[in-house]
Amino acid sequence: MQVLKVSESKRLSGDIKISGAKNSALVLIAASLLTKESVQISNVPKLTDVYSMIKLLLGIGATISETSNKLLLQTNRIDFLTEKLDVEIVQSLRASFFCIGPLLARFGELRMPLPGGCRIGVRPIDEHLKGLKRLGASVKVEKDHILVKALSPEKRLVGAKVKFNCKSVGATETILMAATLAQGKTIIENSAQEPEIQDLANMLRRMGAKIKGDGTDRIEVEGVDQLKGCSHTVMPDRIEAGTFLIASAITRCPLTISPVIYEHIEAVIFKLEESGCLVKKSDNSISIFPIRDIKSVDITTRPYPGFPTDLQAPFMALMTTAKGTSKIEETIFEKRMHHINELNKMGANIELQGNTAFVVGVKELRPSILQGKDLRACAAIVLASLVARGESIIQGLEHLDRGYENFDMKLNKAGAFISRSRTF
Ligand code: EPZ
Repeated sequence: MQVLKVSESKRLSGDIKISGAKNSALVLIAASLLTKESVQISNVPKLTDVYSMIKLLLGIGATISETSNKLLLQTNRIDFLTEKLDVEIVQSLRASFFCIGPLLARFGELRMPLPGGCRIGVRPIDEHLKGLKRLGASVKVEKDHILVKALSPEKRLVGAKVKFNCKSVGATETILMAATLAQGKTIIENSAQEPEIQDLANMLRRMGAKIKGDGTDRIEVEGVDQLKGCSHTVMPDRIEAGTFLIASAITRCPLTISPVIYEHIEAVIFKLEESGCLVKKSDNSISIFPIRDIKSVDITTRPYPGFPTDLQAPFMALMTTAKGTSKIEETIFEKRMHHINELNKMGANIELQGNTAFVVGVKELRPSILQGKDLRACAAIVLASLVARGESIIQGLEHLDRGYENFDMKLNKAGAFISRSRTF
């Protein structure tokens, strides 16, 4: 098992390079299933989630080559009759379920393993399935699989109006991808507006898809008979960018991050400014200058463009040493507060009431042996350990490495004292 040893690091400085967005790269890999031609995706982050997705596609006959952060994917030889999707990967990696739309659109039917819930919540798929039914598919849930089939004689999906009951990134992506090859027009109402959806729509348009309105709550898709190959570059990871802005604020050290798209993390920047930080943007970088007496601020997580749930845990770490009390409300996932116990072990003063945390700022945090229980909780306790007086030991790196490329190396390059070691 690998652990991080994190010592007090109060002299960070310089530039931090932001990698390609995990939650974009994963769905772009799924989108490559929509065409028989080859697809090249650049700026792909080296993450265990990305390698799981690659393994999933290899398992059904895709050929994928990787050179540094570039993938070349060919799915012309996918053979559903002999191969099937790896149940374990679908159950452990939420994004793998997003292959259901492309595979159904291209092959007309498939058996998809049911995705598992995870540490942050049940992770339902009802919106995905309702949308596929609207596009003319039959959906039959068996024990741990779903059988989906396009009902039209040509086994092709048919465009329709799909109205989501809730803002779902994954369900929007599933229906958007499926609709690109459906017969006729699809209108998606109450679609999620996250930037990853726009990144996906940009790649789909490069493949010949006819899409309008991505990034708004109404997307229009005119189905086409087939899509062609393309090359696309993954957008910068807005959640990684926000995590490093918070690293600057919690250590009270100025940092510059790039590349980054300012609009993608405006909600986070506004909260950091409200807490007293000065934030300056240039064309594709952001510099942050924190003050010593960071003020407590309240946050409520919301679908984009609201405050992102993926930065709730890192922001809570910041609030543990702010002046005053902050109220942090998680409205997206029902079990995304695992970091509270770990932060309280460090001397933080956090009380959880339902899905709302009240964080009373303390003067300082003390080092401890800590367990990261999910991806963003792990990042949060690494940030908190940077300002604890002494050396903390952090376990659970299998979560951290799912979503952050070289997280500890990037912090060390900026002056942190973190060592990664293996314990047997
Ligand atoms: C995506 O998950 C991201 N993952 C998550 O990032 C992110 O936290 C989440 O969007 C919200 O922004 C990827 O893109 C791979 P949702 P997704 O469907 O699509 C409910 C990270 O840390 N819902 O937008 O699974 C659901 O219960 C990960 O990088 C239904 O009710 O999230 C939740 O309350 C974690 N029915 C809300 O919608 C459905 O069919 C938002 O979920 C689908 C979702």
